[in-house]
Amino acid sequence: MSELFLPQELIRKKRDGISLSDPEIGYMVQGITDGSLTDAQLGAFAMAVFKCGMTMDERVNLTRHMMNSGETLNWDQHNLDGPVVDKHSTGGVGDKISLMLAPIVASCGGYVPMISGRGLGHTGGTLDKLESIPGYDATPDNSVFQSLVKKIGCAIIGQTASLAPADQRLYATRDVTATVESIDLITASILSKKLASGLDALVMDIKTGNGAFASDYKMAQELAQSIANVSSNSGVPTSCLITDMDQVLGHSVGNAIEVVECIDFLKNPNNADHRLLELTIELSAYMLQLSGLASDLQTARIKSMNALESGKAASIFGKMITELGGPSDLLERPEKHLKPMPVITPIRSNSSGYISEIDARAIGLSMIHLKAGRTKSSDAIDHGVGLSNIVSKGQWVSKGDPIAMAHCRDQKQLDYLQLEFPSLIKLDEKEPQLPNLIKEVFKSNQDLKS
Ligand code: URA
Repeated sequence: MSELFLPQELIRKKRDGISLSDPEIGYMVQGITDGSLTDAQLGAFAMAVFKCGMTMDERVNLTRHMMNSGETLNWDQHNLDGPVVDKHSTGGVGDKISLMLAPIVASCGGYVPMISGRGLGHTGGTLDKLESIPGYDATPDNSVFQSLVKKIGCAIIGQTASLAPADQRLYATRDVTATVESIDLITASILSKKLASGLDALVMDIKTGNGAFASDYKMAQELAQSIANVSSNSGVPTSCLITDMDQVLGHSVGNAIEVVECIDFLKNPNNADHRLLELTIELSAYMLQLSGLASDLQTARIKSMNALESGKAASIFGKMITELGGPSDLLERPEKHLKPMPVITPIRSNSSGYISEIDARAIGLSMIHLKAGRTKSSDAIDHGVGLSNIVSKGQWVSKGDPIAMAHCRDQKQLDYLQLEFPSLIKLDEKEPQLPNLIKEVFKSNQDLKS
């Protein structure tokens, strides 16, 4: 029947606000994948969806066709003795949680096949952080990836070309046609990739605040509701947590520097930044509860904390690094492999007061300026530069106190950060009200699939 469809007619239909049927969406996704839809048609289609929106049925169908545009992982022949569960974040500044979370959930009996992305725009990417580890192979083939997940309980790798290829082309087009900020397209984009890895349950961390891509709270709510509904309709129980991204998560931004923070976290969880610890444990608790590994959230929190404090999560992290080609003594001697920068200098406050605002987005952009982040996906990045010891909201600082530690290649980079960074931190003589870290939770109605 597909030969009866014409791309321009389906674009016209969507442009005029008429719903597309399942076969019509399937035809468009086929054209995106095999290249028969031109770039111009794809851009026009994305804009028609952006402007006119999609019904829930259309979103579910678009997600399913995009998921099936490439390989999907099947776990049946692996005879796993626990659920396959994952977390995805919409991206933030200093968001390094995946590196600790996957080993924690694996320690508690879950299997976590985590396919992560590179940073784009002001947000950092898990994959870039992992690639700062010498030897780490982030692109093993699917069979190696699946056997590692079975053997260790988790593996974090990059997206392969075989997974949801329709999304790769559509996303690249959206990026250059001002059609990224569409709830319909974001839902299908995220879920097509996540659901292709054969999950039993999914937890979404939807960030909101000045460092988030959904800076507007209403947009974060709409996205959470949309993702919970579509994944539920696709048979995967999902919880979406809306979480605060109005400041850097943890104390560091960069790549190698964030890996060092993760290693410290895994080795000494009780010394970790309290927001980083709270969110990691909360996301883990939702993953355990949703996938049936804990009867309730409180039990799940205790299990997650035990996995950290017993050192089990650290040991699984170490195994994952070694199995993927990284150094076997990374946990013991991180400084040997994640080499300190030649210039490490405190940045000092120009005045005194409580930290009342932190412009996380601008901090992320400053990392792009230093080449720790990229403006287009083909850019090479510098894994070494960044900031550590970044202050938190509500903290008191006196004039001259350090507000961060700059890790730079040279004096020019340091001069830039010393001028720029203090202007991104606002002080107030009144102690500010601190926002809730977890603002709201949206759940799908679906029970764990049998
Ligand atoms: N992340 C994705 O993978 N896709 C989007 O559309 C937006 C964020």
